[in-house]
Amino acid sequence: MTDPTLAVATRAVVAGRPARKADAPLNVPVTFASTFHAGGEVEYGRYGNPGWSAFEEAVGSLEGGTALAFASGLAAASAVLSLLPENAVVVAPDNAYTGTRSLLLERVAQGRATLRSVNVADAEQVADAAAGADLIWLESPTNPLLDVADIERAAAVARARGALLVVDNTFATPILQRPLELGADIVVHSATKFLAGHSDVVLGVTVTGDAGLQQRLDDHRRLHGAIPGPMEVFLALRGLRTLALRVGQAQANARELSTRLDGHPAVSLVRYPGFGAMVSLEMRGGAAAADAAADAVRLWINATSLGGVESTLERRRRWPSEADTVSEGLLRLSVGIEDVEDLWADLDTALSAVPRNH
Ligand SMILES: Cc1ncc(COP(=O)(O)O)c(C=O)c1O
Repeated sequence: MTDPTLAVATRAVVAGRPARKADAPLNVPVTFASTFHAGGEVEYGRYGNPGWSAFEEAVGSLEGGTALAFASGLAAASAVLSLLPENAVVVAPDNAYTGTRSLLLERVAQGRATLRSVNVADAEQVADAAAGADLIWLESPTNPLLDVADIERAAAVARARGALLVVDNTFATPILQRPLELGADIVVHSATKFLAGHSDVVLGVTVTGDAGLQQRLDDHRRLHGAIPGPMEVFLALRGLRTLALRVGQAQANARELSTRLDGHPAVSLVRYPGFGAMVSLEMRGGAAAADAAADAVRLWINATSLGGVESTLERRRRWPSEADTVSEGLLRLSVGIEDVEDLWADLDTALSAVPRNH
């Protein structure tokens, strides 16, 4: 196990490496194997892979629990929802990643759950909705409105109500926020985003400090088979080594850009929670202006997803599944690690050219 007294930036570099012996490689090699010689711990490729274990050791060390890698962030979320009883009562953000909301709504449509949507920035609303709940699902900051929840308070409420507290920590990353330390039961990530960090893999992960929950999640993965590929975990672990540097630089850029964007004539509201690398802009000219800006950028990339070294943006309501609490003219920015002056010049030029009236 990685020394938990090491700083998080150090753990990101050292966790999950092979034992130190002569001629051992510094990185766990990629293992392409569907089966293993009998009598060991792994046995079969749906049950384990040395590359998964290395990635899981590293993420577990950063979040302070035991991790399990999944084929995608939504596969990790599905595994967590499999812990719910039938007719479960779930408290969840009124804006959250659309895929997560769609998963929950699917359960509701099947008659298997009741959903209580709350503004997670309002701790009272979360506490009031928790009566009789089986699960409080937080995403903090939320995607794309960047609402921030009081995780510690929600953990106290969840404990008192006997509900599970799950936190999607994709946007904050364990560099900036560690929900298990704040009392959450399970953390989930779309490792596709900041953890891997280079827009080249789709991957998910769960982390928990509870051995019983870990066993049930592992059983689910074995049986349902939403497993990661060996290359994906290798790339994600390679990306994870620079997580602290990347998050530090991207956050510094995001802070600077959010200050400069505040008061920009094309922008009516800047949403920035004060930390992290995500910024959302409400465009004065609504959907047309947001589309025009997304078309006009030359350095930024008009693309969905986030958390890569490169800066991307998109108008979220171009997706029909996006919540209607999100305005038509909202542009979500994922700030990368480029030079901030280049990012500003490109964004300012694109924003300055767009229509400002509906
Ligand atoms: C906050 C958040 N959680 C979960 C997911 C789902 O992850 P994946 O696309 O890896 O399945 C996403 C994807 O955008 C996300 O933004």
